[in-house]
Amino acid sequence: MYTHIVGTGSAVPARVVTNDDLSKIVDTSDEWIVSHTGIRQRHIVSAEENASTLGCTAAKRALEDAGIAPEEIGTIIVTSTTPDYAVYPSTACVIQGMLGAVNAAAFDVSAACPGFVYGLTIAKGLMQIDDRPVLVISTEIMSRTINWSDRNTCCLFGDGAGAVVLKNSDVPGGLGFHLIGADGTGALAIHREGGVRTEETARNAPGDLKMDGRAVFNFAVRSFCDIISKTFENYGWTEKDITWIVPHQANTRIIDAAVKRINVPVEKFYVNIDRFANTSSASIPIALDEMVKKGLIKTGDRMIFAAFGAGLVYGGVAVEWTK
Ligand code: UT7
Repeated sequence: MYTHIVGTGSAVPARVVTNDDLSKIVDTSDEWIVSHTGIRQRHIVSAEENASTLGCTAAKRALEDAGIAPEEIGTIIVTSTTPDYAVYPSTACVIQGMLGAVNAAAFDVSAACPGFVYGLTIAKGLMQIDDRPVLVISTEIMSRTINWSDRNTCCLFGDGAGAVVLKNSDVPGGLGFHLIGADGTGALAIHREGGVRTEETARNAPGDLKMDGRAVFNFAVRSFCDIISKTFENYGWTEKDITWIVPHQANTRIIDAAVKRINVPVEKFYVNIDRFANTSSASIPIALDEMVKKGLIKTGDRMIFAAFGAGLVYGGVAVEWTK
């Protein structure tokens, strides 16, 4: 039994905020942001949008692409660092209701930026015991978690959602090698309060995202290299076998640093951070959907999704495209 991606979809808010727009509210410039991150603009939600509305739109598009009705879905897995509700109900349950996916179990996964990769891995395991299709939705409203007067973080993030439909079949290919891991000693390198860890955090508003950018940068480069070299080592692929690496879109300099350490040409990395910034766990499925829509992926292409983020966590999935 093999697990395949049979549909993709994405959704981003209509409103675009450019680097020049940001330079009017904080001491920054288009030149600094582009040269340090590769980002030129980001999409930002309106007051009416949130993780479930964007996630639902992306999911509907993925279902339509797959030709699968909501009632056929066995499980909905949502990954988000910006859920509609702090703990419950899960955003997956909210979206299940919106979609009318009446036969689906629904739950959220907390794995920050690698959430999509974790979601695919959990889905594949689950599909060994429940053969029905699974919807993995990654949806993020980063703009509501950042301090818009902090130039260190406000230029880095954007909002958006991406989704895939997974289906089992006897056709070889699809989701192959999976690698997920964590280093909890770096738990505070990116964090946001709001949990019930103490009386104070339980009663106060969550506050803004806080990040030690340099520490995350170093972890990110290490993780990228590990994911790719371990996939080659354990799965038998070489650089020549793969058409694409679809990285978590956090910073083009992280990709450049990884390229210097591994034997994969930079042209094989698909990058769209210039237009969407870092949309956390949504970044890989948004990129994937864009690649599909542009006709950049053909049957038989081999690719690796690679991500890192708060936790600290990392994850990679090797995929042979069969759609
Ligand atoms: O999904 C995971 C999420 N996180 C990441 O992926 C973050 C990974 N880290 C990074 O991408 C980089 O560390 C950053 C882009 C966050 C920062 O780049 P950097 O080259 O490490 O800059 P820095 O933090 O060392 O700051 C250098 C200078 C500082 O000024 P001083 O103290 O040297 O005077 C910053 O205040 O750049 C300044 N700076 C800015 N200047 C203009 C920081 N942000 C800005 C800005 N515009 N937006």
